[in-house]
Amino acid sequence: METFSEIFMPRRGSTGAADVDALFHFIHITGFILLAGITIAIIYFCIKYRRRSDDEVTPIITHNANLEITWSVIPLILILIVFSWGFRGYLTLFTPPSDAYEINVTASSWLWEFTYPDGGTSANELYVPANRPVKLIMRSNDVVHSFAVPDYRVKMDVIPNRYTTLWFEANEADTSQVYCTEYCGFGHSNMLAQVIALEEEDWEEWLETGLEVDMDMPLAELGEETYTSAGCNACHSTDGSPLVGPTFQGLFGSERPLQDGTTTTADEDYIRESVLDPMAAVVQGFAPSMPSYAGRLSEREIEGLIEYIKELE
Ligand code: CUA
Repeated sequence: METFSEIFMPRRGSTGAADVDALFHFIHITGFILLAGITIAIIYFCIKYRRRSDDEVTPIITHNANLEITWSVIPLILILIVFSWGFRGYLTLFTPPSDAYEINVTASSWLWEFTYPDGGTSANELYVPANRPVKLIMRSNDVVHSFAVPDYRVKMDVIPNRYTTLWFEANEADTSQVYCTEYCGFGHSNMLAQVIALEEEDWEEWLETGLEVDMDMPLAELGEETYTSAGCNACHSTDGSPLVGPTFQGLFGSERPLQDGTTTTADEDYIRESVLDPMAAVVQGFAPSMPSYAGRLSEREIEGLIEYIKELE
């Protein structure tokens, strides 16, 4: 039979999830019991002590020591339980094991980039080993974001000019959703990523091969790879629908009305410039919000993107 947790909570994907759930349920259930008890008492007293006639006089009662001690001490005990339980959880959450595998996280409006110890990167897909502690060292390129994985019951703000850290240990090989849980502008709700926990051997294999991009593949294919691996897909669709940025469909060769009132033709130069210096020519109706990809994409990847966009008629 499914437990309450399995029905109402996300999958317990990390070693710390059960502890978080236990405290959550304690607070939740205690709250419900108190709510029910107080509500029933209010209704009962309303009926029992209602005014029955016009000349009925309310008796004068100054206090009741036993009652007052009871309603002070019971909540005090409950709050101390929640505090000590929560504080223990807080210490666990903020003390990564010293042997944790470290991955750097960079948040930009509106994508997540992950950098692994050997220098490889991935965008919007975080690969981690299962059954091994992983520590994320996070910073933001622009505004405040927040990295949250409900399956792992972890969440931490990602802010500019300062590192924040987060750790977890995935307890099985599975894929979990990552959300940005701090409102960071127009593309906030699209700022999604996946954390993919792999078994030890798959993880080793991924470290060997997964980080390398095969630069020799045909340009348009490389472009299609780059479109997802660099995170272009977070803001640009390929089916005509406008997201945070303009769609790539039918882009090549079209006339682009710019914010300064001029127009330009979307040719190879225009696309390359938009990738490297996005603020140079912002299309009307879209916020000037794209981060520069200068130094993050190779020339061949940019050529690939141009080829890929050409094919999206
Ligand atoms: Cu980044 Cu919300």
